[in-house]
Amino acid sequence: MFTGLQPSGALHIGNYFGALKPFVGLSREHESFLMIADYHALTTLKDPAALRGNILSVARDYIAAGIDPHTSIIFKQSDVPEHTELAWIFQCLVTVPFLELAHAYKDKVAKGLEANAGLFAYPMLMAADILLYDTDIVPVGADQRQHVEYSREAAKKFNHTYCEPTITGTDIVHIDEANYIFKEPVEKIMAEVGVAGTDGKKMSKSYKNTIPLFASKDEIAKAVMSIVTDSKGESPEHVYNIHALFRTRDELSEIYTTNKGNYKALKEALIEDIEALISPMREKRNSITDDEIKRIIKDGGERARAIASAKMTAVRSAVGVTV
Ligand code: TRP
Repeated sequence: MFTGLQPSGALHIGNYFGALKPFVGLSREHESFLMIADYHALTTLKDPAALRGNILSVARDYIAAGIDPHTSIIFKQSDVPEHTELAWIFQCLVTVPFLELAHAYKDKVAKGLEANAGLFAYPMLMAADILLYDTDIVPVGADQRQHVEYSREAAKKFNHTYCEPTITGTDIVHIDEANYIFKEPVEKIMAEVGVAGTDGKKMSKSYKNTIPLFASKDEIAKAVMSIVTDSKGESPEHVYNIHALFRTRDELSEIYTTNKGNYKALKEALIEDIEALISPMREKRNSITDDEIKRIIKDGGERARAIASAKMTAVRSAVGVTV
């Protein structure tokens, strides 16, 4: 299993229930690679200090949320130069019109923004990320589905171009897929958990309606107290919707019946439930030093590179640059 993360800022509990938690579960069942996509981030982020900070914090967040760096490989893309090397080879196989159909690029152009060449080639770097490790499963959000399709396309093109016999006469040619260098991966779309924010809209940084994942108890209390309640019903809908992430319907029904109309008590109950989830992760997060994170990333990079460089030896030989 392989996934990549754009190193971008603080996580909230919507990210936790939608992406981190399911990913942590999957990481216990599969040999897993978790890559920090720092070179992908360069397509949009031009602030070195911010990038450095985000790289460390995304690794720290995932470890605090339960990824075990001994069993899973956590690394950063820039530590394994084989990714950019393979991306170039894929770029030489696919066409410009094919890349022009990629949503991320199309959306940018549709908005009248100027895309850099890195953004245009983005799907081929992502294909390299995935394909170097003989990945079977790629857990991603629905917005990344097309990128995984592009990876399959890159694998197919490469295998077809370089790992099948050249057809010269009319003889029947036997194609042996065992000679293929790349395996075609399959996406596993993380179900949209649709976590509601403090105003009832989807929880999102851009709406400023989030509950931060590593918040202090005071910050949790402040966010929960700010949840918008309407004075009509007896049960505050927005409080209930967030609460539903933490407890079963039966448990909630008891709490919300006992405290009917008492919004303050209900909010306090929610604060306690959020704190119970967050406090161990927050403590874990605070207990990891920058040096430890750097060591984990460096070690992960070495383990990843051993695999990637073996694959690239086969690739270089197949394309004909090994003499
Ligand atoms: N493009 C992904 C995103 O923005 C990040 C990513 C980079 C990725 N490389 C990957 C995801 C490889 C899965 C597999 O979320």
